[in-house]
Amino acid sequence: MITETPALTFPEATACIILGLFIAFFSSKRKRELQKQNSPSAQNTKETAIQLDKLIIGLGNPGQSYENMRHNVGKLFISYTANKFKAQLKQINQGYLAIMNEETNLPKIGLFNTYCYMNISGKSISEVIKKHQVKVENIIVVHDDLDNAFGKVKIKEGGSAEGHNGLKSIIEYLDTKEFLRLKIGIDRPNSRDPIVISPYVLSNFSTDQVNRLNSEIFEKGIEILKNKKFIQG
Ligand SMILES: *[C@@H]1O[C@H](CO)[C@@H](O)[C@H](O)[C@H]1NC(C)=O
Ligand SMILES: *[C@@H]1O[C@H](CO)[C@@H](O)[C@H](O)[C@H]1NC(C)=O
Repeated sequence: MITETPALTFPEATACIILGLFIAFFSSKRKRELQKQNSPSAQNTKETAIQLDKLIIGLGNPGQSYENMRHNVGKLFISYTANKFKAQLKQINQGYLAIMNEETNLPKIGLFNTYCYMNISGKSISEVIKKHQVKVENIIVVHDDLDNAFGKVKIKEGGSAEGHNGLKSIIEYLDTKEFLRLKIGIDRPNSRDPIVISPYVLSNFSTDQVNRLNSEIFEKGIEILKNKKFIQG
């Protein structure tokens, strides 16, 4: 390398190199400490994210006004299941996560509700899957199904989004259609027109329907998940 500065003598050069090494060592140490202080949550979640064997995902929209809507039946199912198995839904960056069997040697099952809008569900779901190292074949997405009678619960392997905004987003973010769905029938109004469908899915279940969901229909879903080894017991 050609430089215009006069050449250093041998002892000067050695001293410079040693000083340089010291500065480099301490500044990188300081940088690491600063990084640690500045992002404790990022560091912690990275280090402590439990590996999940299965992940059960409920679809819905965020906020109280959406809570009891037909479109939110997936989230209602997750809340019911978490409550039944005494697994507490805790807020994480991407939504709410409960872990079943956390303190045991049994397979770890995650119950997850997003809290973004339905149409971007895929983003948070893909993040949670990555963070908790879940294989796509070990997830199941619970959602409202217009093509089945209210209360009918069915499992389906893969397939198109069938016009469902949440499924569309998941397919986009996971870049595959090959994931399980647990479909909960909500009836279809006598139309396929979005002008009719949209306000229908975005309206509350009747009180009677809520009672039936909580007394028998969600239990049917849990039975199916047990048969598929998503839930033990
Ligand atoms: C729907 O349920 C929510 C509570 O989840 C309530 O605040 C809202 O008033 C209900 N809407 C109608 C139209 O009954
Ligand atoms: C998603 O849905 C919300 C609420 O309905 C809406 O405001 C938003 O524009 C939608 N976003 C996309 C990307 O479709």
